[in-house]
Amino acid sequence: MRIAAHYLVVALLIWPWLVWAGLDPAARGTGEYADHWNPDPMHEYWDPGTYHQPERERVEGVFTGEACLECHDVITPGIVKDWRGSRHAQAREPVLCPACHGDDHQKMSLPTPQTCGTCHPQRLAQMEEEKKYGFPSHALAMERAVDSKHFADKPKAEVASCLQCHSVATKCDSCHTRHRFDAAEARRPEACITCHSGPPHPDDETFFASAHGQGYLKEGKQWDWRKSLSKGNYPVPTCAYCHMKDGNHQVADKAVWKFGIRQINPESAENQIKRKRWLELCADCHPAEVGPIFFRELDAERSLTWDKLYGVERLLKGLRGQGRLIPSAGERPPYPMDWLAKLWPRERIGFYEGQASAFYNVSAIERDYFDVWYFTNLGAYKGMAHGAREMSIRFHQQMDAQVQAIGTEAQRLKETTPSGGDLKSLWMEGEYTEFNRDHN
Ligand code: HEC
Ligand code: HEC
Ligand code: HEC
Ligand code: HEC
Ligand code: HEC
Ligand code: HEC
Ligand code: HEC
Ligand code: HEC
Repeated sequence: MRIAAHYLVVALLIWPWLVWAGLDPAARGTGEYADHWNPDPMHEYWDPGTYHQPERERVEGVFTGEACLECHDVITPGIVKDWRGSRHAQAREPVLCPACHGDDHQKMSLPTPQTCGTCHPQRLAQMEEEKKYGFPSHALAMERAVDSKHFADKPKAEVASCLQCHSVATKCDSCHTRHRFDAAEARRPEACITCHSGPPHPDDETFFASAHGQGYLKEGKQWDWRKSLSKGNYPVPTCAYCHMKDGNHQVADKAVWKFGIRQINPESAENQIKRKRWLELCADCHPAEVGPIFFRELDAERSLTWDKLYGVERLLKGLRGQGRLIPSAGERPPYPMDWLAKLWPRERIGFYEGQASAFYNVSAIERDYFDVWYFTNLGAYKGMAHGAREMSIRFHQQMDAQVQAIGTEAQRLKETTPSGGDLKSLWMEGEYTEFNRDHN
């Protein structure tokens, strides 16, 4: 007993120092760059397992489910109404508030995937299984975002939204939202496009432009969304039908092209297995030959794109060799903890050199390439992958114009003598950089 008290005193004494030293778990980020960013208040909803702090000001006591309902009917009527309309309320043994939040109001928790997994172990296991396919996946989405160098280093206001989408890994209410937890809601494309939209992943635009998307827009309102996503239940496929067939909570077991940002060999043994899964899916509704033709065209589009992208990468590597990328890597602040870049500054060009964080902090021509690679290329890929061929063709026209402009600029850089001025002090010690480092 005395020993326990002793430890408690020590813990109380060193705690303020830990906090001061930035070691308070609630005041630090997570992931590889945890020391370089601090969570915002919203993060307690996006990654509740790590950041949620129970609200202790207002209510004290341990309550039964009925007591929760009675009080919250007044405090948060919307929540109680949604819950009453849910399968959780209507189950033979209703899933009451404490099942997800606990019963002690001083220790209220917000549920993590593990909380849901106690009653839905198969769904949790399916999502966890995505990890074996590597990135991208829902299960790994949070680490992928916080381990991005630009997440830790970009101005805070520009990365505030990242974890809202990447929280798909750390909570189960992204697609069937709280407190209805309605499977019918999750089956519709609207459940996905809250996150699957925008220039690097225009899944919404490309799907809606396809024959499948047009079919959904025309008649989807009349379909009975209570039916499971299985063969025969829906006339045209939507996002979840294709990527979560039969309710499989596993979105990574078929996709070959890995988000489109790097070249892939679709013929590898593992990718052939994934392809077969796609072909079986298409055969739910189409004659057997439709699938193979479609994927041959997708691979051909990818191959053409990579010819174009590698062409630009060669140009940029040539400029790098001649020291004509200005400011050069040595004149830009390296990403935090990038000790290698401090010792050996080097412009990173392309996926395999780690260009994925080149949103900023690069020379103009590198940024122009980033735009082609990250936005135009990915639009062209998703257009083709989702059957919006016209859209893919338009992205290719845009790509050709961008590639040409980069060629002209590269020529100009070769012909003029490099003169950077005093860029080094501007970037390395400038107000902007220091402000970011202090305020992330
Ligand atoms: C006597 C009234 C009362 C009872 C009983 C009650 N709550 Fe609350 N609850 C509140 C109030 C007030 C808040 C604070 C609302 C706010 O801060 O906006 C709250 C907040 C919460 C929160 C949010 C906590 C957070 O940290 O964000 C959860 C979750 C919650 N209650 C769940 C429950 C559960 C589960 C029960 C039953 C075990 C329960 N409540 C019983 C009044 C009550
Ligand atoms: C099936 C699990 C589940 C049940 C049952 C459940 N909740 Fe929740 N609740 C959640 C989830 C998930 C969240 C969102 C957590 C997050 O954003 O990370 C949440 C959030 C909340 C919040 C915080 C909302 C806010 O905006 O701060 C309150 C309050 C709350 N629930 C009250 C209740 C009450 C009252 C009941 C009973 C009527 C209830 N919950 C039943 C899963 C559940
Ligand atoms: C205490 C056990 C329990 C917990 C915890 C739990 N559920 Fe459930 N869930 C159930 C039961 C029981 C049903 C109803 C099954 C039925 O009606 O056949 C259900 C049904 C569902 C459904 C189907 C709804 C529909 O429209 O068919 C979804 C989706 C769901 N839960 C999601 C969740 C999520 C997400 C969480 C965590 C935030 C969660 N559940 C936590 C027991 C639980
Ligand atoms: C809350 C945001 C969010 C929602 C909602 C969401 N996703 Fe995702 N999804 C993501 C993120 C973030 C990634 C990328 C994760 C990473 O960085 O690896 C992703 C990745 C994917 C991938 C790529 C997997 C791979 O191996 O290539 C597919 C497919 C996918 N989601 C399908 C869906 C479908 C279908 C829905 C709707 C039923 C959906 N998502 C709903 C955020 C979301
Ligand atoms: C609107 C939702 C959304 C926002 C905001 C968002 N992402 Fe994503 N992110 C996604 C989706 C969806 C994917 C996967 C697309 C795919 O597989 O086609 C993705 C993919 C990624 C990937 C590549 C995944 C891989 O494994 O190759 C990284 C890294 C990433 N996001 C980091 C970030 C960072 C850092 C931020 C903030 C600057 C951010 N994301 C903001 C939805 C979002
Ligand atoms: C990317 C979107 C998405 C995410 C994230 C997601 N679900 Fe689902 N969920 C769905 C879809 C779509 C359905 C409907 C499946 C069908 O038609 O059978 C569904 C249905 C369910 C059901 C009811 C079907 C059944 O009988 O199992 C449960 C339970 C469920 N989900 C639990 C979970 C749990 C637990 C998590 C977190 C580990 C989770 N979901 C995360 C999209 C999602
Ligand atoms: C007809 C089936 C189908 C529909 C409907 C569909 N997709 Fe896809 N999706 C695909 C195919 C095929 C690919 C290419 C996968 C590959 O590279 O092997 C793909 C690729 C993706 C990827 C990138 C996966 C990767 O790693 O390259 C994401 C994310 C995605 N789809 C999300 C969505 C969303 C969100 C919707 C709805 C708005 C949707 N899809 C509708 C078939 C479909
Ligand atoms: C649930 C049924 C269903 C599934 C699964 C499905 N499709 Fe379709 N698909 C349709 C319907 C219905 C149409 C519209 C036919 C029409 O307009 O004549 C269509 C149209 C198409 C078209 C356009 C044909 C044209 O003439 O414009 C292509 C290409 C296509 N699908 C490819 C695929 C591929 C590839 C897959 C698998 C990744 C797939 N579909 C999965 C039902 C399905």
